[in-house]
Amino acid sequence: MDAHTKPNAPVLDSYWMPFTANRQFKAAPRLLESAEGMHYTATDGRKILDGTAGLWCVNAGHGRRQIAAAVERQLTTLDYAPSFQMGHPIAFDFAERLAEIAPGGPDNRLDRVFFTGSGSESVDTALKIAIAYQRAIGQGTRTRLIGRERGYHGVGFGGISVGGLVNNRRVFPQLAGSDHLRHTHDLARNAYVKGQPEHGAELADDLERLVALHGAETIAACIVEPVAGSTGVLVPPKGYLDRLRAICDRHGILLIFDEVITGFGRLGAGFATDYFGVRPDIVTTAKGLTNGAIPMGAVFTSRAVHDALMHGPESQIELFHGYTYSGHPAACAAGLATLDIYRDEGLFTRAAELETAWHDAMHSLRGLPHIIDIRTIGLIAGIELASRDGAVGARAYDVFVDCFQKGLLIRVTGDIIAFSPPLIIEKEQIGEIVSVLGDALKQAA
Ligand SMILES: Cc1ncc(COP(=O)(O)O)c(C=O)c1O
Repeated sequence: MDAHTKPNAPVLDSYWMPFTANRQFKAAPRLLESAEGMHYTATDGRKILDGTAGLWCVNAGHGRRQIAAAVERQLTTLDYAPSFQMGHPIAFDFAERLAEIAPGGPDNRLDRVFFTGSGSESVDTALKIAIAYQRAIGQGTRTRLIGRERGYHGVGFGGISVGGLVNNRRVFPQLAGSDHLRHTHDLARNAYVKGQPEHGAELADDLERLVALHGAETIAACIVEPVAGSTGVLVPPKGYLDRLRAICDRHGILLIFDEVITGFGRLGAGFATDYFGVRPDIVTTAKGLTNGAIPMGAVFTSRAVHDALMHGPESQIELFHGYTYSGHPAACAAGLATLDIYRDEGLFTRAAELETAWHDAMHSLRGLPHIIDIRTIGLIAGIELASRDGAVGARAYDVFVDCFQKGLLIRVTGDIIAFSPPLIIEKEQIGEIVSVLGDALKQAA
């Protein structure tokens, strides 16, 4: 029986679903009812292996009692308190704990933390901090923001302005002056690579082109995802991020890494910043921050960025920015419990331990129908399919639906399948992903 024809099945009319083909979905819904460990349970009782950690967020797996208990304790102690001109201890405690593991390495951590409610809010916050910083150091003409083609930085007006996915941009106006580097995706030179591709470091020089075109004195910041996720897993070529850092330094441009998906262990280190050994000025996070259990984001900045804004009369608000739910007590409780789990279970290094098995398993799919590339890094994989003539995305969508029927949750963007399972995945479950996806690909038209 379909989920929507079952007795007590929810009425689907009122909920306007995000990033969903609403009419298609409501005609044949896929409803998840509960979750535990590596699995969801659908409303028809089937177990679905989570190949995507929800939406790249449930890094420690589902149903973690420790997080639930911490949130309940917090809600019955202090459910909500304002964060404007007021404080509550748990927000300070959480920021201090985050500072201890913040991106940038032991001697140089980006240990000033601004709380938000999501990845999109983290991105818009980071862009605003960058512009405010430039103004604070006497560089008020620097308001231009540079992103990258095929980047995804959420859905705020700042995020879509620097983002590079056409469907997120074509209907909406964007911030004047924003511009984009070329993307780094190059199947001709870099197909079927495990880890970082050899070719393409020179694409970072595109920032020099934009400096020559606009003038460095107009550019506040450059934002990139160290590994682009939502656009189909684009891994930075060797040397690319270092080169971007050097160009930013040369021209007084702040470098922002959007680590909303790479933060909190996805690559086998706390952050991509540490994995690649390139230190940006600002890092945006969300998702794994609370294991997805309570919405929350955090922006990490260097002390230099933070301290530049701590000037002027002490009675003055230094940054006119913040959210009702910045530092929400329940989210902080979820975050603290999440950090305990990451530490106690060694989850920041788990992706590194599994990396070889993961790479080998994913690349074993090579040669199956429709596949034109497989790329892997940390506990991430992108599997690119050839598109059907005149119907980009249709083939991967069919594979997605078929995998769901077969008990596996995958994520697709265009004709690229992305995997980012919870970091608690076992080797047998990696095998299960390969086997279910392999069957679905053999059956796909
Ligand atoms: C790199 C990146 N930035 C920002 C976001 C937006 O996060 P949210 O959906 O929490 O607003 C995402 C979401 O997938 C993301 O992958």
